Amino acid sequence: MRSLILPVGISLLSLAASFTIPSSPQQILGTSNSETTKEKCPLPLKVTPDYDGLLSSLRYLQDEDILQRQATRLSRAVQVPTTVTDSMKDPYDESFAAFVDFHELLAKLFPLIHSKSRVERVNRLGLIITVNPPQKANKRQRKPLLFTAHQDVVPINDASDWTHPPFSGHFDGEFLWGRGSSDCKNGLIGLLSVIEDLLEQDWTPSRPVVLAFGFDEESRGFLGAGSIAPILEERYGKDGFEFILDEGGTGLSTLGSSSFSSIFEEDNVIYALPDVSEKGAIDIILSLSVPGGHSSIPPKHTGVGIMSEIIYNLENTELDIFTPSLGPDHPSRRMLECQVRHSPQFVEDWLPSALDSDDYAAAAEAIAQSRGEGIRFTLQSSQAADIFNGGVKSNALPEKIQAVVNYRVGLHQTPKLVQERAERIIAPIVEKHNLTWSKASISASDEVDIASGTGGHLALTFNAPLSPAPVSPTDIETSPVWARFAGVARSVFESVPSLKGKTVVVSGDIMTGNTDTRFYWNLSRNIYRWSPAREGRALNIHTVDERIGIDAHLEGMMLYYDLIRGFDLWDGAPVQDEVTERQDI
Ligand SMILES: *[C@@H]1O[C@H](CO)[C@@H](O)[C@H](O)[C@H]1NC(C)=O
Ligand SMILES: *[C@@H]1O[C@H](CO)[C@@H](O)[C@H](O)[C@H]1NC(C)=O
Ligand SMILES: [Zn+2]
Repeated sequence: MRSLILPVGISLLSLAASFTIPSSPQQILGTSNSETTKEKCPLPLKVTPDYDGLLSSLRYLQDEDILQRQATRLSRAVQVPTTVTDSMKDPYDESFAAFVDFHELLAKLFPLIHSKSRVERVNRLGLIITVNPPQKANKRQRKPLLFTAHQDVVPINDASDWTHPPFSGHFDGEFLWGRGSSDCKNGLIGLLSVIEDLLEQDWTPSRPVVLAFGFDEESRGFLGAGSIAPILEERYGKDGFEFILDEGGTGLSTLGSSSFSSIFEEDNVIYALPDVSEKGAIDIILSLSVPGGHSSIPPKHTGVGIMSEIIYNLENTELDIFTPSLGPDHPSRRMLECQVRHSPQFVEDWLPSALDSDDYAAAAEAIAQSRGEGIRFTLQSSQAADIFNGGVKSNALPEKIQAVVNYRVGLHQTPKLVQERAERIIAPIVEKHNLTWSKASISASDEVDIASGTGGHLALTFNAPLSPAPVSPTDIETSPVWARFAGVARSVFESVPSLKGKTVVVSGDIMTGNTDTRFYWNLSRNIYRWSPAREGRALNIHTVDERIGIDAHLEGMMLYYDLIRGFDLWDGAPVQDEVTERQDI
């Protein structure tokens, strides 16, 4: 941490023209936060696994046989079409048959795991795999580690659009193609491969290592992670795991290559960005029923007209709620502080003062304008009217009209706030059209109440409200678990041969979507969502030509392997105050 990369003397004036200047710079330059004494974004000390007699993780990048074996394993996993749709609700239904094949494949590919560790099935298709320490080693009460991934994949829209058939698992020597290759059978196969490798070396852990694989993450996870979570909580207790690592995050990236940077020079700083929180979510389902009849004798507003008025007003009134905010505890603030410190030549020249300002809204808006929609929606709530159905015939008045509006809730807000705003906007429209209305909350597994009756009736259903996830701590001074996690990540990626000489800065980010960790909040305060692929190596998630660079898969395995080793014997003490170079055995 002493070899900080200092800003080279580029004139800030020359940069000003390249960046979007906030609409009212004095707003964010005006006030300055006096509480700036604490060092911003110090690098974590590198953590290299203690001498434990185990082979080095670098082997994964050096051994051609390992590469070929991983390509084969991942390819075979991709070949089993474990697709889920939102209508699949019964794990015993024939539609889930592929998951049984998938389990058979895993048993073939990972014989040691299946003979030496505990493999449990939950709700038929969920998997919990536990490697326990020998009984006598158990007395130190170290918390277990939890690694998760999901077995399911999203459906294919049109297979003929794909360069290689989506379930062929084609390997071209660099990329492995197919549905699930990067979301997230690469993680699942990587985790199992690492455990199999450890067992092959006769390793026994000093704390339990648990893998949990849900099977419906892509349709919210209630069947898989939703039934795994209570079992793990019962077994290990509240906050019973040292950390949880799931898929997600922004992988590893540089600022120099990002779209808002116009500087062409080599960027020696790599940002490793695990997600340490998730936005909340809620669907509002609007179900309207009105009297039908012949369309030659219509009312002034048909049901379609009334529903349109509702959607129009949701999109055009009370919009304050959809503005960005960058409060003092928002993880993106930490990430931006890291960029200011470690990549000063690549950030907007006004960014340091924006971060010092206590006008969180103005700073957030300036950043959102400069960085684009991807960043904007990490800082604010969003609203999207996604479904609108009504009417059956051109000469019949519509009787049943349904719409669904999807909200993602910013960290500074709650689903309740979003729900109350919608009710306020809808109330006068209900009154104006002399409708009755009802409101109900359901969980995603319940059936939606479809409005019916002779008069006009609007049923509002609030579907599966989810609060923003608690923010996992990322202060290396006060969170030894984070310091150790980040120290392992830094050590692993700085040792990857193609990244030699680069500095890896590890910072928390937030997800605009959700993962299976939504069910795991009780299990640990330290939840990280991170598929650790470099830019351009995990491509086209959820769409045509999904693929992963085999190097990204192998680097992910290095991380899993060294995290297990880096935490296994750790007794909670802070990282020693020295940076040791990797010792490869
Ligand atoms: C509203 O509906 C009620 C009962 O359905 C009816 O008595 C009343 O006249 C209606 N008012 C208007 C303005 O249509
Ligand atoms: C977490 O714990 C709370 C309080 O005990 C409980 O009500 C809740 O159901 C748990 N959440 C999950 C997802 O299991
Ligand atoms: Zn996924």
